[in-house]
Formats: sequence, structure tokens, C-alpha cells
Amino acid sequence: MAAPARKVSLTGIKPTGDPHIGNLIGAIRPALSLVEEHDSIYFIADYHALTTIRDPEKVREYTRSVAATWMAAGLDTERTVFYRQSDVPETFELAWVLSCLTGKGLMNRAHAYKAMRDRNAEAGRDDLDAGVNMGLYNYPILMAADILLMNSDLVPVGRDQTQHVEIAADIAGSFNHHYGSSFRFHVPRAVVPEAEAGRTLPGTDGRKMSKSYDNTIPLFLPEPKLKKLIRRIPTDSVPVEEPKDPDSSPVFRILEQFADADTTAETRKRLEAGGVGWGELKNQLFEVLNEQLRDLRARYEELMLPGSELDRALAEGAEKARRRARPLLDQVRAAVGM
Ligand code: TRP
Repeated sequence: MAAPARKVSLTGIKPTGDPHIGNLIGAIRPALSLVEEHDSIYFIADYHALTTIRDPEKVREYTRSVAATWMAAGLDTERTVFYRQSDVPETFELAWVLSCLTGKGLMNRAHAYKAMRDRNAEAGRDDLDAGVNMGLYNYPILMAADILLMNSDLVPVGRDQTQHVEIAADIAGSFNHHYGSSFRFHVPRAVVPEAEAGRTLPGTDGRKMSKSYDNTIPLFLPEPKLKKLIRRIPTDSVPVEEPKDPDSSPVFRILEQFADADTTAETRKRLEAGGVGWGELKNQLFEVLNEQLRDLRARYEELMLPGSELDRALAEGAEKARRRARPLLDQVRAAVGM
């Protein structure tokens, strides 16, 4: 069989709550920009959400919402493979095979699990595994199954997920070592978007924008709420007429991720010259953000309507995904002796 000309890039999106502008800058736009170069696969990791969300309505709502967000942001479902993980049961069959090749010690070292143990230790609990379900513990194996099932080469993820991709690479190596004479997985590699590798996007309290800090600017806010949130971003007490340091201002640092290069350069100059107040800068940020989010919001709302094009797109995506997954899984099954 000839090697595929294009590399396969795959990323999974966990549906957990309202998407924010940090997701757009740090994950969605960089991942969508790969479409030209790579065979691009995106999926909603709905089964991953079960490790933390127990409300079925929430799982359903977040799943649809995250799918609508990516489509609104420009995901072209014709040129890519876009599906819900739960529509591709081959994933879970592969996950079992992979779990039999994965050392328990490797899972013990996974960040999410270690962080839970650290929290238990800090809280003075005797049982460091308190509150850890096996889904959380096995999470990296399910993620490896997502990645390997599509024989992915590249996995665009945030920095917090690179360890999981390394684990997937380890597991692929282990499979190839044991069964490689009949079938070999591509060994995947994480790609961290530049926006994240370099500067972080500040949130409404000036710290890194993150759901866990509760300082995000959600993507789909009504205009007055967006304005209010932007007003809340902290500023220093340098008076209007004095020169200001753009790089230490969270407002400017958000602006530069959304405004075009000319606007950013011009604003930088004006701040450094003095005479521009923080209030004025916040108004500018509101205008720039609102302009970009307006169309996105309209498209999102359309897609969220019951029976929208979203449902058809996901159903077609599931078929495409399974057409890829099935032959691969058959080879895996044969390789391990099924
Ligand atoms: N674990 C990822 C996150 O929390 C989501 C995810 C699940 C994923 N499976 C994946 C990402 C496979 C990349 C590839 O963000």
C-alpha cells in the first residue's frame, strides 16, 4: 500500500461548558488553519466528559454547543472528518486492546491523575485516590485510542495535553514492538499552537484565561455583557496623559490577539505616547471583539436550533470516521489474535 501523501492531523474537543475566546485563539483557529496542509480530523470527545459530568442533559447540550462553535468558527465539514466520539464505537474496542499494552505505572504518572492525588494530600486525606474514578485514571488510554484509531501523525493540543500525546506515542510504540510484524501504528506527535507556545491570553482578572480561574470571556455573550466583562479587566493607575506599557496591560494583550497587525501597532504607539486612557482602550477592545464575534454568534445560534445542519453534519461525519476506523481495527484484531 502506498503511504498517504498527506499527514493526518487529529484533535479532540472535550465538551465541558461554555467555549471562551481563549479556546478560539489557542485551539480552534490554529487547529482549523491546518486544513490546507493536512488530512484533518476533529471530534467531540463526549465520552471523555463522563469522567466529570453526570448530568445527561448537560453532556448533550455541551456536545452540541461545542460542535456548533467549531462549525461557526469555520470548520468545513465537507473537507474534514468531524464526528462525535460516541458515534464511533470502534474507539472503545481499541481502548481495551491498548489498555492491555499499557503499564499501570505509565498511568500513575499522568498529570491529571497526579494532580488529583496532590489535592487529596493537601486536603490531608488518607486515601490519595479519593474521588478518582477509573475513567479519569484510564483517560490517557482512551485518548490514545482516539488518536491511534485514525492513524494520526499530528495532534494539535494545548500544552496541558502534550503529556497525553506522549503517552499515546508510547502505547503505539509498545503495540508496534509486540505486533509490528503484521500491523504498525503511526507514532503521533503533539503540535502546540504558537499562540499558546508564546504568549498566554489573559483573563478578566489578568491571570491566564482559564475555566478553572473563572476569568474567561465566553464567546457567545450578548453585547452589553461583553462590554461589562471587558470593563472588569484590571488596569494600573497610570493617569490618562502618561505613557503606558502596552505589554503589561491585559487589555492590550487581548486586543493584539484579535486586532489586525496595523491596528495593534498603532494602538501600541498611542499608548506609549500617553494621552490614551484605559477606558478608551477597553472601548476599542470591545469594538474589535464584538465585530468578530457578531457573525460567529449569529451562525452559532442558527446551528443550535433543533434539526439544524449540525445534526446532519455529525451523522455524515460519524460514517466517514467509521469507514476509516473499521479496516484499521480489523487489522488490529487480526494482529492480536482475534
Ligand atoms: N483530553 C483532551 C482535552 O481535555 C481532549 C481529547 C480527547 C483529545 N481525546 C483527544 C485531544 C485526542 C487530542 C486528541 O482537551
